[in-house]
Amino acid sequence: MTTERTYDFIVVSNRLPVDRVVPATGEAFWQHSPGGLVTALEPVMRASAGAWIGWAGQPDLEFEPFESDGIKIVPVPLSTSDIENYYEGFSNDTLWPLYHDVIAPPKYRREWWDAYVEVNQRFSDAAAKASAHGAAVWVHDYQLQLVPQMLREARPDLVIGFFNHIPFPPYGIYSQLPWRRQIIEGLLGADVIGFQRLADAGNFARAVRRLKGYDTRGPIIEVPIEVDDPGAGSHRHVTRSRHGGLVRTVLAMQFPISIDARMYEEMASRPEIQERARQIRKDLGNPKTIMLGVDRLDYTKGIGHRLEAFGELLADGRISVDDVTLVQVASPSRERVETYRQLRDEIELTVGRINGDYSSISHTAISYLHHGYPREEMVALYLAADVMLVTALRDGMNLVAKEYVASRVDDDGVLILSEFAGASDELRQALLINPHDIEGLKDAMLRAISMPKRERSRRMRVLRKRVLTNDVARWSAAFLDALTRSAHADHPLQHPLGHESRER
Ligand code: F6P
Repeated sequence: MTTERTYDFIVVSNRLPVDRVVPATGEAFWQHSPGGLVTALEPVMRASAGAWIGWAGQPDLEFEPFESDGIKIVPVPLSTSDIENYYEGFSNDTLWPLYHDVIAPPKYRREWWDAYVEVNQRFSDAAAKASAHGAAVWVHDYQLQLVPQMLREARPDLVIGFFNHIPFPPYGIYSQLPWRRQIIEGLLGADVIGFQRLADAGNFARAVRRLKGYDTRGPIIEVPIEVDDPGAGSHRHVTRSRHGGLVRTVLAMQFPISIDARMYEEMASRPEIQERARQIRKDLGNPKTIMLGVDRLDYTKGIGHRLEAFGELLADGRISVDDVTLVQVASPSRERVETYRQLRDEIELTVGRINGDYSSISHTAISYLHHGYPREEMVALYLAADVMLVTALRDGMNLVAKEYVASRVDDDGVLILSEFAGASDELRQALLINPHDIEGLKDAMLRAISMPKRERSRRMRVLRKRVLTNDVARWSAAFLDALTRSAHADHPLQHPLGHESRER
């Protein structure tokens, strides 16, 4: 018997909501990174004695659990070699390109897979240790797809949810993966598996049928219960399949993620942020049209395609730097992965060429900013931008599109949105484009530039209503509701998020 504290609600994600920052000089410190997920889950964490398990963002450092802004933080250490093989390798050089429709070629290395299994086991062990009896554990994203099954084996009493933040690819692509069966088995350890789009859930169900031969009925997957399964007695949703065997049901469906829309709205209403937006316009020379791109510097975002379209419009003389300027914020990302290094070189070469060819002393064609910015500055940029360019070649959701819409308290601005971003399922009043169709993209840019104010407002009002209604709180509530129902099915557990924490 140990006296370690356990929790009734656990979030497991690769990164913690805090980063350990080790400056070149001076003391290391913890920096809160308040992403949308943290904002959505914070109230639930506080109300339910919750803990967050994840990596602190620095290699080879071990930390005891601690409290940050009312949330218990349980750091999982990653060594330099784990980062190379599990994070940069299998997660971001195998799964990331594979799950994004092989835009870049995925690499399949056995030592990366071994590290992925080992690190997933470490996260699972940490979650098993921190969970109270019957706790709800919510595992996030492609870095941790083996955790649900590992956790179910260790702790059959838990209610396990998994949410995939990125796309799940069609079977013809997914089937390339040498470890395709193990990943499916890993995910099926969950009671509820969430995807961004209906199409992702469909792709997953098909992979389950092809690789495991299990029956699926809409969002329900029937997983046969093995006779020697250690947790057989505690399985929820146990029913008899049409073939007569006992099965456990898993719910796999879409839960499109969103943002804290009210927070963006509130920030965009602040006079100092509106003043900053005016200043940005002034600093850019008060052009007629400001176009904006905001992305992690990632090959899935279609930054090169939008630059090509913009450069051609300048070359064709259909727009001029006197009237139109493009601001491209490209925040640094995964810089040790070779494909990302190459992408940076390509993008910066293209920006340099376009600027060299078309900028004048007084007008720059493209303001390229290779930095991350505080949220206040982003909202000011959104307010300053007449046209927002989201040209992803494949994207689970794309929250930038939603942030732009939520920030436009003036009901103005035009969103150009790729149909390959999950957000396009909801944001139908955007100008939807196929980023591979450069002529179509150029036409959409021109249409956005000359769109009458009435049409801009009409579209933006509908978009805003959608984003403000379907916000991140609604997303997490929907997922947790499905998870809670799954716990209730035939289990004495009451609402898993309403328990007091216990000693174990
Ligand atoms: O959306 C996928 C994702 O991996 C998120 O989990 C993460 O916040 C973002 O991309 C940035 O990735 P990384 O953690 O590799 O910097």
